[in-house]
Amino acid sequence: MASVDAKTRPPNVDLGALLLTGATGEIGSHLVLRLNAAGIAPAALLRRPLPPGAWRGAQATEVPGDLEQLAGSKPLPALERTLGRTRTLVHLAARVNLRGRGAAEMQRINVRAATELFRRAQAAGVRRFVHVSTTGAVGCNDRPVPLTEAAPYNLTRFRNPYFETKRAAEERLQALWRESPSSTDLIIVNPSINIGPQASFRRRAGTRRRRPPPHPGRWPYRLVCFWFTGGINLVDVRDVAEGILLAAEHGTAGQRYILAGENLTIRQLMARLQPVFGTAGPRVRLPHWTLRAAGSLAEAVASRTGRRAVWNRSLAALCGPYWFYDSARAREALGYAPRPFGDTLAELRAWISERARATVA
Ligand SMILES: NC(=O)c1ccc[n+]([C@@H]2O[C@H](COP(=O)([O-])OP(=O)(O)OC[C@H]3O[C@@H](n4cnc5c(N)ncnc54)[C@H](OP(=O)(O)O)[C@@H]3O)[C@@H](O)[C@H]2O)c1
Repeated sequence: MASVDAKTRPPNVDLGALLLTGATGEIGSHLVLRLNAAGIAPAALLRRPLPPGAWRGAQATEVPGDLEQLAGSKPLPALERTLGRTRTLVHLAARVNLRGRGAAEMQRINVRAATELFRRAQAAGVRRFVHVSTTGAVGCNDRPVPLTEAAPYNLTRFRNPYFETKRAAEERLQALWRESPSSTDLIIVNPSINIGPQASFRRRAGTRRRRPPPHPGRWPYRLVCFWFTGGINLVDVRDVAEGILLAAEHGTAGQRYILAGENLTIRQLMARLQPVFGTAGPRVRLPHWTLRAAGSLAEAVASRTGRRAVWNRSLAALCGPYWFYDSARAREALGYAPRPFGDTLAELRAWISERARATVA
Protein backbone atom coordinates (compact mmCIF):
# COMPACT_ATOMS: atom_id res chain seq x y z
CA MET A 1 0.00 0.00 0.00
CA ALA A 2 1.34 3.43 -0.91
CA SER A 3 2.13 5.46 2.20
CA VAL A 4 0.90 9.04 2.51
CA ASP A 5 3.59 11.66 2.99
CA ALA A 6 2.84 13.39 6.30
CA LYS A 7 3.86 16.70 4.75
CA THR A 8 1.19 16.57 2.06
CA ARG A 9 -1.46 14.48 3.83
CA PRO A 10 -4.83 16.17 3.33
CA PRO A 11 -6.71 16.77 6.58
CA ASN A 12 -9.00 13.91 7.62
CA VAL A 13 -11.74 16.24 8.68
CA ASP A 14 -13.32 18.91 6.50
CA LEU A 15 -11.84 22.02 8.04
CA GLY A 16 -13.89 24.16 5.68
CA ALA A 17 -12.79 27.72 5.04
CA LEU A 18 -9.78 28.42 7.22
CA LEU A 19 -8.65 31.73 8.69
CA LEU A 20 -5.22 32.21 10.30
CA THR A 21 -3.91 35.06 12.38
CA GLY A 22 -0.13 35.34 12.69
CA ALA A 23 0.37 33.75 9.26
CA THR A 24 3.53 35.76 8.64
CA GLY A 25 5.30 34.64 11.83
CA GLU A 26 7.67 31.75 12.52
CA ILE A 27 5.00 29.12 13.08
CA GLY A 28 2.32 30.70 10.88
CA SER A 29 4.53 30.65 7.78
CA HIS A 30 5.20 26.93 8.19
CA LEU A 31 1.49 26.35 8.72
CA VAL A 32 0.64 28.20 5.49
CA LEU A 33 3.21 26.08 3.61
CA ARG A 34 1.84 22.90 5.20
CA LEU A 35 -1.75 23.81 4.28
CA ASN A 36 -0.73 24.72 0.72
CA ALA A 37 0.95 21.32 0.38
CA ALA A 38 -2.44 19.76 1.19
CA GLY A 39 -4.16 21.98 -1.39
CA ILE A 40 -5.60 24.48 1.11
CA ALA A 41 -5.15 28.24 0.67
CA PRO A 42 -6.16 29.88 3.98
CA ALA A 43 -7.32 33.43 4.60
CA ALA A 44 -4.73 35.36 6.62
CA LEU A 45 -5.46 38.33 8.88
CA LEU A 46 -2.61 40.82 8.36
CA ARG A 47 -2.11 44.15 10.06
CA ARG A 48 -0.28 45.42 6.97
CA PRO A 49 -0.14 44.00 3.44
CA LEU A 50 2.98 42.02 2.57
CA PRO A 51 5.21 43.58 -0.09
CA PRO A 52 5.04 42.02 -3.55
CA GLY A 53 6.85 38.70 -3.73
CA ALA A 54 6.95 38.22 0.03
CA TRP A 55 4.64 35.20 -0.07
CA ARG A 56 7.20 33.51 -2.36
CA GLY A 57 4.55 31.57 -4.20
CA ALA A 58 2.63 30.54 -1.07
CA GLN A 59 -1.14 30.83 -1.41
CA ALA A 60 -3.16 32.84 1.10
CA THR A 61 -5.87 35.48 0.85
CA GLU A 62 -4.97 38.62 2.77
CA VAL A 63 -7.62 39.99 5.13
CA PRO A 64 -6.65 43.42 6.49
CA GLY A 65 -6.98 43.81 10.25
CA ASP A 66 -4.91 44.84 13.24
CA LEU A 67 -5.37 43.10 16.58
CA GLU A 68 -4.91 46.49 18.25
CA GLN A 69 -8.29 47.44 16.74
CA LEU A 70 -9.83 44.25 18.08
CA ALA A 71 -8.36 44.92 21.52
CA GLY A 72 -10.13 48.29 21.44
CA SER A 73 -13.39 46.54 20.40
CA LYS A 74 -13.35 48.53 17.14
CA PRO A 75 -15.16 47.22 14.07
CA LEU A 76 -13.05 45.35 11.51
CA PRO A 77 -15.35 44.99 8.50
CA ALA A 78 -13.05 42.74 6.42
CA LEU A 79 -12.59 40.41 9.39
CA GLU A 80 -16.34 40.30 10.09
CA ARG A 81 -17.05 39.38 6.45
CA THR A 82 -14.39 36.65 6.51
CA LEU A 83 -15.59 35.24 9.85
CA GLY A 84 -19.05 34.85 8.32
CA ARG A 85 -17.67 32.23 5.94
CA THR A 86 -14.95 30.75 8.20
CA ARG A 87 -15.36 27.28 9.62
CA THR A 88 -11.97 26.90 11.34
CA LEU A 89 -9.91 29.72 12.85
CA VAL A 90 -6.32 29.24 14.01
CA HIS A 91 -5.24 32.10 16.26
CA LEU A 92 -1.45 32.36 16.28
CA ALA A 93 -0.86 36.10 16.37
CA ALA A 94 0.66 37.37 19.58
CA ARG A 95 3.30 39.65 20.97
CA VAL A 96 6.10 37.19 21.76
CA ASN A 97 8.88 38.37 24.05
CA LEU A 98 10.45 36.60 27.02
CA ARG A 99 12.59 39.58 28.04
CA GLY A 100 9.96 40.93 30.39
CA ARG A 101 9.09 44.00 28.33
CA GLY A 102 5.96 45.25 26.55
CA ALA A 103 3.49 44.26 29.28
CA ALA A 104 0.81 46.76 28.20
CA GLU A 105 0.99 45.73 24.54
CA MET A 106 0.91 42.05 25.53
CA GLN A 107 -2.16 42.65 27.64
CA ARG A 108 -3.90 44.23 24.63
CA ILE A 109 -2.76 41.77 21.93
CA ASN A 110 -2.37 38.50 23.81
CA VAL A 111 -5.39 38.83 26.10
CA ARG A 112 -7.93 41.44 24.99
CA ALA A 113 -7.63 40.86 21.23
CA ALA A 114 -7.70 37.05 21.64
CA THR A 115 -10.82 37.29 23.81
CA GLU A 116 -12.55 39.66 21.39
CA LEU A 117 -11.63 37.46 18.42
CA PHE A 118 -13.13 34.41 20.13
CA ARG A 119 -16.32 36.37 20.93
CA ARG A 120 -16.66 37.48 17.31
CA ALA A 121 -15.94 33.94 16.08
CA GLN A 122 -18.74 32.65 18.36
CA ALA A 123 -21.13 35.33 17.08
CA ALA A 124 -20.29 34.51 13.45
CA GLY A 125 -20.82 30.76 13.94
CA VAL A 126 -17.20 29.65 13.39
CA ARG A 127 -17.11 25.88 14.20
CA ARG A 128 -13.55 25.41 15.49
CA PHE A 129 -11.19 27.91 17.14
CA VAL A 130 -7.63 26.69 17.75
CA HIS A 131 -5.85 29.00 20.16
CA VAL A 132 -2.06 28.75 20.03
CA SER A 133 -0.78 29.27 23.55
CA THR A 134 2.60 28.14 24.93
CA THR A 135 4.12 25.74 27.46
CA GLY A 136 4.93 29.02 29.22
CA ALA A 137 1.26 29.00 30.23
CA VAL A 138 1.64 25.49 31.71
CA GLY A 139 4.46 25.73 34.26
CA CYS A 140 8.01 24.60 34.98
CA ASN A 141 9.59 22.14 37.38
CA ASP A 142 12.43 22.31 39.89
CA ARG A 143 13.13 18.64 39.13
CA PRO A 144 13.83 17.11 35.70
CA VAL A 145 10.33 15.64 35.44
CA PRO A 146 8.12 16.52 32.42
CA LEU A 147 4.88 18.38 33.10
CA THR A 148 1.52 17.52 31.59
CA GLU A 149 -1.45 19.75 30.76
CA ALA A 150 -2.73 19.18 34.32
CA ALA A 151 0.28 20.81 36.03
CA PRO A 152 -0.62 23.63 38.43
CA TYR A 153 0.51 26.97 36.99
CA ASN A 154 3.56 28.09 38.99
CA LEU A 155 5.20 30.79 36.84
CA THR A 156 3.76 33.87 38.57
CA ARG A 157 7.03 34.20 40.53
CA PHE A 158 8.87 35.20 37.31
CA ARG A 159 6.54 38.19 36.79
CA ASN A 160 7.01 37.63 33.07
CA PRO A 161 4.27 39.42 31.09
CA TYR A 162 4.50 36.92 28.22
CA PHE A 163 3.67 33.94 30.46
CA GLU A 164 1.08 35.90 32.44
CA THR A 165 -0.78 37.18 29.37
CA LYS A 166 -0.73 33.83 27.56
CA ARG A 167 -2.05 32.15 30.71
CA ALA A 168 -4.73 34.84 31.20
CA ALA A 169 -5.86 34.44 27.57
CA GLU A 170 -6.33 30.70 28.06
CA GLU A 171 -8.38 31.30 31.21
CA ARG A 172 -10.61 33.92 29.55
CA LEU A 173 -11.19 31.83 26.44
CA GLN A 174 -12.01 28.76 28.55
CA ALA A 175 -14.50 30.83 30.56
CA LEU A 176 -16.18 32.13 27.37
CA TRP A 177 -16.33 28.63 25.91
CA ARG A 178 -17.85 27.20 29.12
CA GLU A 179 -20.61 29.85 28.98
CA SER A 180 -21.63 28.58 25.56
CA PRO A 181 -19.98 25.22 24.83
CA SER A 182 -22.27 24.33 21.93
CA SER A 183 -21.31 27.34 19.81
CA THR A 184 -17.62 27.45 18.77
CA ASP A 185 -15.30 24.59 19.77
CA LEU A 186 -12.27 25.92 21.65
CA ILE A 187 -9.08 23.87 21.33
CA ILE A 188 -5.85 25.08 22.93
CA VAL A 189 -2.37 23.96 21.91
CA ASN A 190 0.76 24.63 23.98
CA PRO A 191 3.94 24.43 21.89
CA SER A 192 7.34 24.42 23.60
CA ILE A 193 10.35 26.32 22.17
CA ASN A 194 10.36 26.06 18.38
CA ILE A 195 13.51 25.53 16.36
CA GLY A 196 14.19 24.64 12.73
CA PRO A 197 14.66 26.31 9.39
CA GLN A 198 12.94 29.69 9.29
CA ALA A 199 10.28 30.37 6.69
CA SER A 200 8.83 33.62 8.06
CA PHE A 201 7.31 35.59 5.17
CA ARG A 202 7.76 38.77 7.16
CA ARG A 203 11.52 38.34 7.61
CA ARG A 204 12.03 37.36 3.97
CA ALA A 205 10.11 40.48 3.03
CA GLY A 206 12.96 42.39 4.63
CA THR A 207 10.99 44.19 7.32
CA ARG A 208 13.04 42.65 10.14
CA ARG A 209 16.37 41.71 8.65
CA ARG A 210 18.82 39.84 10.83
CA ARG A 211 22.57 39.64 10.40
CA PRO A 212 23.51 36.42 8.55
CA PRO A 213 24.75 33.67 10.88
CA PRO A 214 28.38 32.55 10.83
CA HIS A 215 29.08 29.27 9.05
CA PRO A 216 28.77 26.26 11.45
CA GLY A 217 32.18 25.03 12.55
CA ARG A 218 33.79 28.50 12.38
CA TRP A 219 35.40 30.23 15.36
CA PRO A 220 32.36 31.91 17.02
CA TYR A 221 30.82 28.47 17.53
CA ARG A 222 34.00 27.16 19.13
CA LEU A 223 33.62 29.73 21.90
CA VAL A 224 30.37 28.09 23.06
CA CYS A 225 31.72 25.95 25.87
CA PHE A 226 29.43 26.66 28.85
CA TRP A 227 26.50 24.96 30.51
CA PHE A 228 24.37 25.55 33.58
CA THR A 229 21.84 23.52 35.52
CA GLY A 230 18.26 23.27 34.31
CA GLY A 231 16.78 22.18 31.03
CA ILE A 232 14.47 23.01 28.14
CA ASN A 233 12.21 21.33 25.63
CA LEU A 234 12.83 21.99 21.94
CA VAL A 235 10.46 21.10 19.14
CA ASP A 236 10.70 21.34 15.37
CA VAL A 237 8.59 24.26 14.12
CA ARG A 238 7.24 22.09 11.28
CA ASP A 239 5.98 19.52 13.80
CA VAL A 240 4.21 22.30 15.69
CA ALA A 241 2.51 23.38 12.44
CA GLU A 242 1.44 19.77 11.89
CA GLY A 243 0.27 19.49 15.52
CA ILE A 244 -1.89 22.60 15.12
CA LEU A 245 -3.51 21.09 12.04
CA LEU A 246 -4.08 17.80 13.89
CA ALA A 247 -5.65 19.69 16.79
CA ALA A 248 -7.97 21.51 14.36
CA GLU A 249 -8.99 18.17 12.91
CA HIS A 250 -9.24 15.92 15.97
CA GLY A 251 -8.96 18.08 19.10
CA THR A 252 -11.70 17.81 21.71
CA ALA A 253 -13.43 21.08 22.59
CA GLY A 254 -12.23 22.50 25.90
CA GLN A 255 -8.94 20.53 25.90
CA ARG A 256 -5.33 21.70 25.93
CA TYR A 257 -2.63 19.79 24.05
CA ILE A 258 1.07 20.18 24.74
CA LEU A 259 3.05 20.15 21.47
CA ALA A 260 6.56 19.45 22.71
CA GLY A 261 9.69 17.77 21.35
CA GLU A 262 12.73 16.51 23.25
CA ASN A 263 13.53 17.32 26.89
CA LEU A 264 17.21 18.18 27.28
CA THR A 265 19.25 19.43 30.20
CA ILE A 266 21.42 22.38 29.14
CA ARG A 267 24.43 20.10 29.52
CA GLN A 268 22.89 17.50 27.19
CA LEU A 269 21.94 20.22 24.72
CA MET A 270 25.51 21.52 24.58
CA ALA A 271 26.81 17.99 24.05
CA ARG A 272 24.34 17.46 21.17
CA LEU A 273 25.30 20.75 19.51
CA GLN A 274 29.04 19.95 19.57
CA PRO A 275 29.32 17.48 16.66
CA VAL A 276 26.74 19.29 14.52
CA PHE A 277 27.82 22.93 14.92
CA GLY A 278 31.45 22.54 15.98
CA THR A 279 30.87 24.08 19.41
CA ALA A 280 33.27 23.24 22.25
CA GLY A 281 30.79 21.10 24.21
CA PRO A 282 29.80 21.45 27.88
CA ARG A 283 33.17 22.27 29.46
CA VAL A 284 32.55 25.18 31.82
CA ARG A 285 29.73 25.11 34.32
CA LEU A 286 28.34 28.59 34.93
CA PRO A 287 26.77 29.25 38.33
CA HIS A 288 23.44 31.06 38.04
CA TRP A 289 24.75 34.23 39.65
CA THR A 290 27.00 34.75 36.61
CA LEU A 291 23.97 34.63 34.30
CA ARG A 292 22.19 37.22 36.44
CA ALA A 293 25.32 39.40 36.59
CA ALA A 294 25.65 39.20 32.79
CA GLY A 295 21.98 40.27 32.58
CA SER A 296 22.60 43.35 34.76
CA LEU A 297 25.71 44.25 32.76
CA ALA A 298 23.94 43.86 29.40
CA GLU A 299 21.06 46.04 30.62
CA ALA A 300 23.46 48.75 31.79
CA VAL A 301 25.28 48.72 28.44
CA ALA A 302 21.96 48.81 26.58
CA SER A 303 20.71 51.80 28.54
CA ARG A 304 23.95 53.70 27.76
CA THR A 305 24.04 52.82 24.07
CA GLY A 306 20.29 52.89 23.47
CA ARG A 307 20.50 49.43 21.88
CA ARG A 308 18.30 46.50 22.80
CA ALA A 309 19.84 44.06 25.31
CA VAL A 310 19.93 40.54 23.85
CA TRP A 311 20.42 39.15 27.36
CA ASN A 312 18.84 40.58 30.53
CA ARG A 313 17.82 39.70 34.10
CA SER A 314 14.36 38.50 33.05
CA LEU A 315 15.92 35.90 30.76
CA ALA A 316 18.54 34.98 33.38
CA ALA A 317 15.74 34.32 35.89
CA LEU A 318 14.32 31.63 33.59
CA CYS A 319 17.60 29.63 33.69
CA GLY A 320 17.74 26.94 36.36
CA PRO A 321 14.34 25.22 36.37
CA TYR A 322 13.44 22.35 34.06
CA TRP A 323 11.07 23.40 31.24
CA PHE A 324 10.28 19.76 30.52
CA TYR A 325 6.97 18.66 28.99
CA ASP A 326 5.09 15.50 28.12
CA SER A 327 3.06 15.40 24.88
CA ALA A 328 1.41 12.02 25.61
CA ARG A 329 -2.09 13.50 25.28
CA ALA A 330 -1.37 14.99 21.83
CA ARG A 331 0.36 11.79 20.70
CA GLU A 332 -2.53 9.56 21.78
CA ALA A 333 -5.51 11.76 20.91
CA LEU A 334 -4.22 13.59 17.84
CA GLY A 335 -1.55 11.31 16.38
CA TYR A 336 1.09 14.01 17.01
CA ALA A 337 4.55 12.56 16.23
CA PRO A 338 7.41 15.06 16.48
CA ARG A 339 10.63 14.10 14.70
CA PRO A 340 13.86 13.29 16.62
CA PHE A 341 15.80 16.35 17.76
CA GLY A 342 18.90 15.11 15.88
CA ASP A 343 17.05 15.37 12.54
CA THR A 344 16.08 18.97 13.23
CA LEU A 345 19.64 19.84 14.25
CA ALA A 346 21.08 18.37 11.04
CA GLU A 347 18.56 20.28 8.89
CA LEU A 348 19.15 23.44 10.87
CA ARG A 349 22.87 23.16 10.23
CA ALA A 350 22.27 22.68 6.50
CA TRP A 351 19.91 25.67 6.46
CA ILE A 352 22.35 27.93 8.35
CA SER A 353 25.23 26.86 6.06
CA GLU A 354 23.11 27.64 3.02
CA ARG A 355 22.23 31.09 4.37
CA ALA A 356 25.86 31.82 5.28
CA ARG A 357 26.96 30.75 1.76
CA ALA A 358 24.21 32.77 0.06
CA THR A 359 25.23 35.89 1.97
CA VAL A 360 28.90 35.50 1.06
CA ALA A 361 28.11 34.84 -2.64
N1 LIG B 1 8.07 30.55 18.41
C1 LIG B 1 8.01 29.81 19.52
O1 LIG B 1 9.03 29.21 19.95
C2 LIG B 1 6.70 29.65 20.25
C3 LIG B 1 6.64 28.73 21.31
C4 LIG B 1 5.44 28.54 21.98
C5 LIG B 1 4.31 29.25 21.61
N2 LIG B 1 4.38 30.14 20.60
C6 LIG B 1 3.14 30.87 20.23
O2 LIG B 1 2.90 30.68 18.85
C7 LIG B 1 2.32 31.83 18.29
C8 LIG B 1 3.12 32.27 17.08
O3 LIG B 1 4.45 32.47 17.50
P1 LIG B 1 5.59 32.88 16.45
O4 LIG B 1 6.89 32.54 17.06
O5 LIG B 1 5.23 32.39 15.10
O6 LIG B 1 5.43 34.48 16.51
P2 LIG B 1 6.13 35.59 15.62
O7 LIG B 1 7.11 35.02 14.67
O8 LIG B 1 6.58 36.66 16.56
O9 LIG B 1 4.90 36.14 14.79
C9 LIG B 1 3.85 36.82 15.43
C10 LIG B 1 2.72 36.96 14.44
O10 LIG B 1 1.67 37.72 15.06
C11 LIG B 1 1.34 38.81 14.18
N3 LIG B 1 0.90 39.98 14.93
C12 LIG B 1 1.53 40.57 15.99
N4 LIG B 1 0.85 41.66 16.36
C13 LIG B 1 -0.22 41.75 15.54
C14 LIG B 1 -1.29 42.68 15.41
N5 LIG B 1 -1.37 43.75 16.22
N6 LIG B 1 -2.24 42.47 14.46
C15 LIG B 1 -2.14 41.40 13.62
N7 LIG B 1 -1.15 40.49 13.68
C16 LIG B 1 -0.21 40.69 14.62
C17 LIG B 1 2.65 39.12 13.46
O11 LIG B 1 2.37 39.89 12.31
P3 LIG B 1 3.47 40.89 11.65
O12 LIG B 1 4.13 40.10 10.57
O13 LIG B 1 2.64 42.02 11.14
O14 LIG B 1 4.42 41.31 12.75
C18 LIG B 1 3.13 37.71 13.16
O15 LIG B 1 2.46 37.16 12.06
C19 LIG B 1 2.25 32.88 19.39
O16 LIG B 1 0.94 32.89 19.90
C20 LIG B 1 3.23 32.36 20.44
O17 LIG B 1 2.83 32.75 21.73
C21 LIG B 1 5.55 30.38 19.90
